[in-house]
Amino acid sequence: MIASNLLRGEKVRLTAVTSADMPAITRWWSDPDFLRLYNTAPAMPRNDDQLSRRFDLSRSGDDAFLFAIRRVDEPAAEDDNELIGLLELDGVVWAHRTTFVSIGIGEARYRGQGYGREAMQLALAFAFNELNLYRVCLTVFSYNDQAITLYERLGFVREGAYRQHLERDGRRYDMYLYGLLRPEWEKSKDSST
Ligand SMILES: CC(C)(COP(=O)(O)OP(=O)(O)OC[C@H]1O[C@@H](n2cnc3c(N)ncnc32)[C@H](O)[C@@H]1OP(=O)(O)O)[C@@H](O)C(=O)NCCC(=O)NCCS
Repeated sequence: MIASNLLRGEKVRLTAVTSADMPAITRWWSDPDFLRLYNTAPAMPRNDDQLSRRFDLSRSGDDAFLFAIRRVDEPAAEDDNELIGLLELDGVVWAHRTTFVSIGIGEARYRGQGYGREAMQLALAFAFNELNLYRVCLTVFSYNDQAITLYERLGFVREGAYRQHLERDGRRYDMYLYGLLRPEWEKSKDSST
């Protein structure tokens, strides 16, 4: 049976990112708290041009799939195209059917409401059932408790650590590597709902 709601859940849907989303993305990239959770690059504001190059919206999905996270859980939300986050499958290696995944709910007021969890569930279904990948992996900083909880709740297994990989405010922190294999996802997806 073909799933009818591959990219749509009860709370969020995954859609294309468009040029109209760039102001929101630029705003998030001016928020050091977000940037310090999201990646290792110095938390430094980027302008539209720099971010348009980073998120090359004309790029086809050869080895990267970029999604907008948008809400569906309010009556008006169907027309409300507000971007609340980004989700990216990137670095796909087709020979081995592996990918990295990253997620950011850029609008802080929408964090902690289950949007990230459902967006990840949709992305995993897309990765395993549409792209037919076998392994999805990600990295996360040891101080990012919310993200670690989310990934473990989804069945990701901690496979190792890049020890003391980053330094912030005079302290060094590990960056953990997590992976999820298709059979593990099959088993965990029902229990994680
Ligand atoms: C990490 C992130 C994607 C999670 O998405 P979210 O929508 O905020 O999270 P959810 O509401 O789906 O909650 C996920 C889990 O974290 C738990 N959680 C919430 N706040 C928490 C906290 N402060 N500490 C630990 N766990 C927390 C929730 O209870 C939930 O677990 P549950 O399903 O067992 O109840 C989102 O917070 C975010 O984008 N943060 C900023 C950028 C970032 O950190 N990106 C990830 C980089 S690796």
